[in-house]
Amino acid sequence: MPKKKALIIGITGQDGSYLAEILLKKNYIVHGMVRRSSMPNTQRIDHIISTSRDNEKLNKKVIREYGDLSSSAQIQNLIKRVKPDEIYNLGAQSHVRVSFEIPEYTYDIVGIGPLRVLEAIKNIKPNIKYIQASSSEMFGNSKKNLQDEDTKFKPESPYASAKTLGYWTTKNYRDNFKIFASNAIMFNHESPRRGVNFVTKKIVRGLCEIKSKKRKILYLGNLNAKRDWGYAKEYCEILWKILQLRKPNDFVIATGKNYSVRDFVEATGKELNMNIIWKGSGLKEVGYDTRSKKVIIKVDPYFFRPNDVQSLLGNSSKLFKIMKQKPKTSFNQLVKIMVKNEIKLIKTNRLY
Ligand code: NAP
Ligand code: GDD
Repeated sequence: MPKKKALIIGITGQDGSYLAEILLKKNYIVHGMVRRSSMPNTQRIDHIISTSRDNEKLNKKVIREYGDLSSSAQIQNLIKRVKPDEIYNLGAQSHVRVSFEIPEYTYDIVGIGPLRVLEAIKNIKPNIKYIQASSSEMFGNSKKNLQDEDTKFKPESPYASAKTLGYWTTKNYRDNFKIFASNAIMFNHESPRRGVNFVTKKIVRGLCEIKSKKRKILYLGNLNAKRDWGYAKEYCEILWKILQLRKPNDFVIATGKNYSVRDFVEATGKELNMNIIWKGSGLKEVGYDTRSKKVIIKVDPYFFRPNDVQSLLGNSSKLFKIMKQKPKTSFNQLVKIMVKNEIKLIKTNRLY
């Protein structure tokens, strides 16, 4: 049987890098869309990227394809040339706070990007299977404490609004043009490869640096926000499984437990033999390590958002019912994985 071909959009990101490894192991030919940048942006996939274009000689390597979600022409040319069996759209300006600063760009890439890909699929090869990385941010500050596939969206940021557009576009192309197009509504998922300006990696890196005396203070924003945090590697395996179903569908992927940013700080501290307690309130609140007897966390309003989502908690029973699948890594296991890796990365002066 000929090998299956996948195109991963967003291959240089946290999820793209894990997904590429998973698909290569499953014997896929993997093409990955990479944005041209003045500094290397392939740290997460350097170990699996090919420098050759000769497919026959490629042994379990990703084929780099330059492109950008802002360009319909590039996407069309890429799909015409590669003719993939599956497309995973993980590409995004994925930072919620930053989306308030660059809303138009965020709408273009996150909102219109999926439309560009789906329109190309419809016109060039309508039997391509497509999965859209949708987000729990679409639920916003929901009236429901536990969110599932039927929960009403209430996007609170340009990022969330744009993701909601991407979600509906995916569903429209499925319903109107019979494209195999599914949404994975993913709750927060983290790993040692998480971008450093997302709160989990920032906390783990920050506290590891404080522990090794490379830094004194870690500045954070909203400590009370709660997120349903899972392990990215598991979520990427589920993305693949969703595309192997007989029919397209939409699924929430979540652990069903949530914790606050404050909890994440305390759990990370514990892994590093710190004992962090909180003193003061509001902007004056600090995190104090009773072992070193030092203030190590402070609040900086720069990291606040005009409107933050206070609590996200996902119900992934549909995923479990249809696919017998659910994320297994617990909050404490996730923190352990991230801390253990970060200690190694810091020793070798690496971020990923
Ligand atoms: P990430 O690490 O920020 O990766 C985003 C990827 O998109 C990177 O490869 C990035 O390329 C690429 N990208 C950015 N702008 C692009 C453009 N204009 N054209 C083409 N590619 C572009 O995000 P992630 O955490 O892996 O998340 C993967 C996807 O899932 C994203 O769509 C995100 O919004 C969504 N999602 C994530 C979570 C989560 O908790 N991680 C939860 C729900 C949904 P560069 O490396 O060049 O920047
Ligand atoms: N980034 C960041 N930096 N967030 C902070 C900080 C800080 O210093 N301090 C507190 N927070 C709070 C944020 O206000 C938010 O409530 C929570 O920590 C999580 O922030 P992020 O890690 O930036 O993730 P996010 O929840 O906004 O968005 C992530 O998850 C979404 C799914 O729910 C991203 O991966 C999105 O792309 C994804 O769609």
